[in-house]
Amino acid sequence: MRILITGGAGYIGSHVAKALIERGGCELSILDNLSTGSQATLEALARMGSFQFFHNDLSNKEALSEIFSRNRFDLILHFAASVEVFESVQNPLKYYFNNTLNTAQLLDVALEYGVKKLIFSSTAAVYGEPREIPKEGIDEEHPLKPINPYGQSKIMSERIIQDVARAHPDFKFVILRYFNVAGADLQGRIGQATPKATHLIKIAAECASLKRPWMEIYGEDYPTPDGSCVRDYIHVEDLAQAHVRAMEYLIRGASSDIFNCGYGRGYSVKEVVQKSKEVSGVDFEVRMGGKRAGDPAILVAQSAKIREKMGWEPLYDDLALIIKSAYEWERGRW
Ligand code: UFG
Repeated sequence: MRILITGGAGYIGSHVAKALIERGGCELSILDNLSTGSQATLEALARMGSFQFFHNDLSNKEALSEIFSRNRFDLILHFAASVEVFESVQNPLKYYFNNTLNTAQLLDVALEYGVKKLIFSSTAAVYGEPREIPKEGIDEEHPLKPINPYGQSKIMSERIIQDVARAHPDFKFVILRYFNVAGADLQGRIGQATPKATHLIKIAAECASLKRPWMEIYGEDYPTPDGSCVRDYIHVEDLAQAHVRAMEYLIRGASSDIFNCGYGRGYSVKEVVQKSKEVSGVDFEVRMGGKRAGDPAILVAQSAKIREKMGWEPLYDDLALIIKSAYEWERGRW
């Protein structure tokens, strides 16, 4: 399999690149504009195995076509995107350009050069504020009503991919809707290197590593048991394996489909902060802040579909382990 990973120098893309290197049997190419992805991540990956690297932005169609004209790809894993909910509220056009338009552009070039398989990084943000919260979590059929431009930009991308597949019956896709991804490579070689990341477990790991003096909890009057938001945190290694399964699923000719990636268990912001203090043994300062725009109260996945149809079985469904791997990587990072 000749695979192109867009955004492969970024957080999730690099963990998937690592999983594919470890799996073997793939010829990997990574395309990244290094806006949030890092050179150091690429160097760490290069110590694990070989790949081609294209320093490119998806908005540059000429350069993209040039890459596709010189290389054949059997499958694309498309991670390159902007991913911060709050930023998307402040700067929506960045999200529509980077996420929606660049996905259309990538598809256009992929079709032109005969690529027939795509795995797309989508998000739980497409569901918005769940109408009612079923005990077993939100399934893939739940209404799509995003409450922030990030979720909108990803839904539009999903629809574009679905329309393309309808128009080209031999084009197959898997869309993975990620819940809250956290943690790092368990051997500490790569992690969430994203500069100025705003994700909860990353921020708590920075506080525990004394790189940040304090953190805030954004809102404590949500309709949740302790008033802070509830999320379904999934270890990045388990998510990476979901991509390996998705690739194998497409190779065996299964039909295009959409899958949630989460554990089906929610933790509140306060629980995550408390667990971060326990795991690190550092009692860092936490302040109560106001609500952050764009945050739904609860997002928990139902993940029965991916388990049944792809045989995905998570190995690290353990909040303490997720936090520990993020913290250890943060402490020891380059
Ligand atoms: N939070 C804080 N303090 C912080 C950082 C976050 O209280 O310093 C809170 C947020 O308000 C939210 C929760 O922690 O309630 C989780 O926030 P994150 O920023 O870690 O993640 P989000 O839930 O906003 O979004 C993430 C990804 C999205 C994805 C979504 C799916 O960034 O790409 O999970 O649930 F869509």
